[in-house]
Amino acid sequence: MTLAEIAEATGGRAHGAAGTTVTGAVTLDSRTVAAGDLFVAVPGERVDGHDFLPAATAAGAAAALVTRPDPALPCVVVDDPVVALGRLAAAVHTRLTGGGLRTLGITGSSGKTSTKDLLGQVLAAAGPTVSPPGSYNNDIGLPLTVLSADESTRFLVLEMGSRGRGHIARLCRVARPQVGVVLNVGSAHLGEFGSADGIAQAKGELVEALPADGTAVLNADDPRVIGMAPRTRARVLATGRGEDADVRAEDVTLDDSARARFTLVTAEERHAVALRVVGEHQVANALSAAGAALAAGMTPAQVAAGLSGAEPRSRWRMEVTRRDDGVTVVNDAYNANPESMRAALAALAGMPAGRRIAVLGGMAELGPDADAEHLRLGRDAVAAGVDLLIAVGPDAVGIAEGAVAAGRRAGEESVHVPDRAAGLALVSEALRPGDVVLVKASRSYGLELLAAELLGGAAA
Ligand SMILES: Nc1ncnc2c1ncn2[C@@H]1O[C@H](COP(=O)(O)OP(=O)(O)OP(=O)(O)O)[C@@H](O)[C@H]1O
Ligand SMILES: [Mg+2]
Repeated sequence: MTLAEIAEATGGRAHGAAGTTVTGAVTLDSRTVAAGDLFVAVPGERVDGHDFLPAATAAGAAAALVTRPDPALPCVVVDDPVVALGRLAAAVHTRLTGGGLRTLGITGSSGKTSTKDLLGQVLAAAGPTVSPPGSYNNDIGLPLTVLSADESTRFLVLEMGSRGRGHIARLCRVARPQVGVVLNVGSAHLGEFGSADGIAQAKGELVEALPADGTAVLNADDPRVIGMAPRTRARVLATGRGEDADVRAEDVTLDDSARARFTLVTAEERHAVALRVVGEHQVANALSAAGAALAAGMTPAQVAAGLSGAEPRSRWRMEVTRRDDGVTVVNDAYNANPESMRAALAALAGMPAGRRIAVLGGMAELGPDADAEHLRLGRDAVAAGVDLLIAVGPDAVGIAEGAVAAGRRAGEESVHVPDRAAGLALVSEALRPGDVVLVKASRSYGLELLAAELLGGAAA
């Protein structure tokens, strides 16, 4: 795009040669700038992207999106570079959609990244697909993902997170999806939304944004999700375990690593699926991905083959590693909420183990329910057969108390430690060959570092 086109798309003013052309990528990080790129200078809380304009210029950036012009580089000056990034992505998305791009959006409280990773790998068999690993689901990550697509891209898989009412609607204006997937309505960010119905209201903005010839892929096993059906003009495809779902799983079994096998059932066909990702919760994610891939025109046989071939792609989500000494480490430390904690404990319960050990940290952003949920988690851990619970950090006190209330001996089978270092020391001392240890907490507690230490630092 020329500087003039970028100015038009963003509503900004071009400074410098209007014929300047951006031929490369769009990036916020001056360290990743390559020749021909557009550098977006975002004024952040700690650092100001404008301080890195000289570095971006030196790295060969063709132009920059800024709030104040820089004489060293052609610029488009805007009031808010993040808003401008969204507008630029919207303009590019409209252009690519005209050329045949199909966009699939995914939202839900848990499993967006996991499902995106499955769907991206399934669709790749049908055509060039953009679905980057990781969790690019906000006002910066989503437009950047859109802008990583080009004329050769056939499928664009977008993760959509919600930080409040109207957020997903806004993301859908950046990239209008033809297929919208809603996974579940849980208690992630409950504090912010007030109630599960409030979360459902916000997540449902995705299906409201779909066109009449689009498809809403709704999880029939979650009443708040299938309850979104009246909110869309699009065709509804129900996924789930029950008879009433259009796309369902039958005969679900788990292997020793808690990887699911099942029969994928559609109106006319039945195909065997063997997942490579860990945990029974991945069956629901796989069904949602299957529904979306079918909506995009793939056959059930292709979908089953794609799901069976899909590898884990984003880090720290149920990463199962066997150490040489026979200890198994399950690193699910990417984040945590009550539903994903229960999913991880269920997987742990299903894995053969000498002893089951859980190193758990707090769950953030639960609002007024936080204390009750931590106590309940401790009880759930005991119910899942956890032999030794190590609760890490001040916010995890309730988890240890819950386990004691459910019968574990305080200080021996249910131990609270002040920090990660103490948790690492205790669990390292405790581990014996054959043990399985689950490591999980909300992102901000950094327990993935503890898991990496357990693996000799290799997986950091
Ligand atoms: N369907 C599911 N139900 C419950 N837990 C799940 C489900 N899918 C994934 N998880 C668990 O939730 C955690 C986060 O998974 P994932 O990163 O896929 O979710 P996400 O919705 O993208 O999260 P975020 O909102 O942080 O982007 C992991 O611990 C994962 O094992
Ligand atoms: Mg995510």
